[in-house]
Amino acid sequence: MEYTKTLLLLTFLFNKGIANDCAPYRVENVLVACVCNATYCDGIPENRPEVPKIGSSHWYQSNRDGLRLKWSEVNFNKIPQDFSADVTLAINTENKYQRIFGFGGAFSDVAGYHIASLSPATQEQLMRTYYHPRTGSRYTLGRIPIGSSDFSLRRYTYDDTPNDVLLKDFSLTQEDIRYKIPFAKRAHLINPETRFFGAAWTAPEWMKSDNGGLSFLKQEYYQTYANYMMKFLDSYARHDIRMWALSTGNEPSDAYMFKNRNTTMGWTPKAMANWIANNLGPTLTSSRFRHTQIMAFDDDRSTLSKFTKPMFMQENSGQYIAGVGVHWYQDDVSSATVLDQTHNDYPEKFILMTEASNGPSVWNTPNVTSESWLRGEKYFLSIMQYMRHWSIGWVDWNLALDQTGGPNLVDLHRDAAIIVNAEKDEFYKQPMYYAIKHFSRFVPRGSQRISITDTDTVKATAFVTPLRETVVVLYNRANTTQRVVLQDFRRGNIQVELSPQSMNTFKYK
Ligand SMILES: *[C@@H]1O[C@H](CO)[C@@H](O)[C@H](O)[C@H]1NC(C)=O
Ligand SMILES: *[C@@H]1O[C@H](CO)[C@@H](O)[C@H](O)[C@H]1NC(C)=O
Ligand SMILES: *[C@@H]1O[C@H](CO)[C@@H](O)[C@H](O)[C@H]1NC(C)=O
Ligand SMILES: *[C@@H]1O[C@H](CO)[C@@H](O)[C@H](O)[C@H]1NC(C)=O
Repeated sequence: MEYTKTLLLLTFLFNKGIANDCAPYRVENVLVACVCNATYCDGIPENRPEVPKIGSSHWYQSNRDGLRLKWSEVNFNKIPQDFSADVTLAINTENKYQRIFGFGGAFSDVAGYHIASLSPATQEQLMRTYYHPRTGSRYTLGRIPIGSSDFSLRRYTYDDTPNDVLLKDFSLTQEDIRYKIPFAKRAHLINPETRFFGAAWTAPEWMKSDNGGLSFLKQEYYQTYANYMMKFLDSYARHDIRMWALSTGNEPSDAYMFKNRNTTMGWTPKAMANWIANNLGPTLTSSRFRHTQIMAFDDDRSTLSKFTKPMFMQENSGQYIAGVGVHWYQDDVSSATVLDQTHNDYPEKFILMTEASNGPSVWNTPNVTSESWLRGEKYFLSIMQYMRHWSIGWVDWNLALDQTGGPNLVDLHRDAAIIVNAEKDEFYKQPMYYAIKHFSRFVPRGSQRISITDTDTVKATAFVTPLRETVVVLYNRANTTQRVVLQDFRRGNIQVELSPQSMNTFKYK
């Protein structure tokens, strides 16, 4: 294993070489990304303590002007000092909400294809900058498409032999072996807390009805498709990748919106509930994968309320469902209160944001200068909103794309937090990368959200970690510096000036 040997040699170098500084990539004097290559990638130094001594707080800042996770320390003042605050935010560690499960991204075929196009050392930098628990983003989640997604190089499922009801021809593909499994395994090695969940875009064509391009699973194949899922779990387990959860399928509403696309399959709420109650649920719980959880829905929250009642109340489906996955694509027209409603009605079911991406690709266009920070800001404010509305995490779409934001089977190029340049053997971390890291790196699994006030100008979220550290995350939306007082009644006040359009994370004991 040449690759493994190379990595062992390089591990030493990586641990020595981490520094905070962004290697800037500028377009017309605007910092649009930080460049990483085989020997350099900005990160948090491994030997920096997680929190300073009692009485002060770490402060990490990124902003539109070009700071990227700039580190400093600020002191608490016991006695309020003369500081005319624009905004005062009060933290209450007694009011506790959901526990956080994690943050991550998706191991799509195209993401793996691009990562694999880099040298082994640069691949390792990329995986570490996401999954390393200290220097990287401390990602702990990975979404794995079951078969092809729209971000694949071709359409396939794991059994394209018509009427193969016994699934004799079921098998993983070259895409799994070359583009998904190696990187998922690498992520798990870098951060053993990493948990995976699988999501199919569609069943094999022969299992589906086709009404003018609108396809559903044929009822006669409900059990076959449940067996197909078991074979997926088994095949990945043989490669030492166990699924924490299994989605009921990516975006069933796409089938209605984009007809004639065999990367989609529709479910009505009633049919999804039937399939879970009579097929997927019983099959999974009586298998050796009974600890894999069923995550239903996996679609834009705009249609969530149509699904919750049938899924959780109809027949026996509710008992099998651990939680719901939601996507961000219709969030502009769909209030986050649907998440509160879902939580209030079914408090024992988790909510997890499982896919977000900006589009279209702007990397090699003049628009990158105006868009890149705004796209980071959009991620940051979305994560904040999902945290304030019961989501246990937030999962990005493709871990990496190329400079065209593709390729994509239906020509729907998108943006990604990391853009790969295979020719130069380097990759570019956009503001979206730092937006996620402001949360993922500092809010470990098991942290609990606590209450903090916020304003329209300065948005806020706060957490306590399992080690009882406090993490406060703020965004200054204004074009002007904001003087902010953070009040923690146990510790005192922190007085800071937040720079215009800035992401801020505070962490203290
Ligand atoms: C890698 O990046 C570092 C920091 O920007 C730079 O000094 C070095 O020359 C780069 N190496 C290559 C091979 O481009
Ligand atoms: C995709 O769907 C078309 C019909 O719409 C079908 O002819 C084709 O075989 C499908 N491709 C795969 C790989 O299932
Ligand atoms: C740039 O942005 C403008 C306005 O948002 C849009 O109309 C235009 O199509 C974009 N151009 C490119 C090349 O993305
Ligand atoms: C900040 O300034 C830019 C132009 O420099 C403007 O487009 C934007 O709307 C302003 N944002 C706020 C929140 O005022």
